[in-house]
Amino acid sequence: MRKNIVAGNWKMNKTFPEGVEFVKELKLALENEKTNCDVVICTPYIHLAAAATILEVSAVGVGAENCADKEAGAYTGEVSAAMVASTGAKYVILGHSERRAYYGETAEILKEKVKLALANNLTPIFCIGEVLAEREAEKQNEVVYAQLAGSLFELSAADFSKIVLAYEPVWAIGTGKTATAQQAQDMHAYIRGVIAEQYGKEVADNTSILYGGSCNPSNAKELFSNPDVDGGLIGGACLKIADFKGVIAGFN
Ligand code: PGA
Repeated sequence: MRKNIVAGNWKMNKTFPEGVEFVKELKLALENEKTNCDVVICTPYIHLAAAATILEVSAVGVGAENCADKEAGAYTGEVSAAMVASTGAKYVILGHSERRAYYGETAEILKEKVKLALANNLTPIFCIGEVLAEREAEKQNEVVYAQLAGSLFELSAADFSKIVLAYEPVWAIGTGKTATAQQAQDMHAYIRGVIAEQYGKEVADNTSILYGGSCNPSNAKELFSNPDVDGGLIGGACLKIADFKGVIAGFN
C-alpha cells in the first residue's frame, strides 16, 4: 500500500552550521516520537552529506531540492543525480513550481531529470500544480494532466511506481492561503484517476500523492484525513522543529 509521507522543503534557507544544528535537533525531537508517516527533509545540496550522516540510523530520509538534467561533465554549477545519491540522500524534489517559474524548467527538461534520478535510485518527489489564473479559469485539471503526461507518462509502470507526487497549487505556496480540504481531495482523486487510466488501478492505489501549499500544524490533520491525500510537502512550516513536528502530528 502507499505510504504516508511528510517531506520538508527547506528551499534556499539555512547556512551550513544552521542546517547541522537543525538536523541534530530534529533527530532528537523525533527519536522518542511515534510517527505514523515517513519523514523526509529536502535540503540545499550543501547540507545533504552531513544530514544523511547525522540521520543515518534514524527514520528520517534526506533529499535534494533539484538535480541536473545531464549525467556529468562540463555543466558549471550543476549537481548530478549521481552526486546527490553519493551523499546518502534518497529523494529529490523535481519540477517544483519555483524551478519551473524562475529557472525555466520545462516538461522536457524534467523528463530527463526524472530519468536520471531513477537511474541513480533516487525517489523523485515530482511537483505539479496550477497557478491562480488557471484555477480561476477552471483549467486546473488540464494543467496538472499536461504536467504529468509531459514528464512522466513515457515511464514504464515499474518506474512510475517509484515516484512520489506532490500536488502544489501555486497560489497556495508561501501565501498562507491553503487549498480547502475539499479542493485538495478533488484534485488528488482526479490525479489518482489519471494514473489509473495510464497505469492501472493497482499502480494508482500505490502512488503517494502529497499536498503542498501553506500546509501547517493547524490544517495538516484536516488535509491528511482526506482519502487521497497521503501527506504533505512542507515549505515554511518545516523550518522550525516545533512546526514541522506539528505537521507530522497531523497523522496522529
Ligand atoms: P509552503 O511551501 O509550505 O511554504 O507553502 C510548500 C512548497 O513550496 O513545497
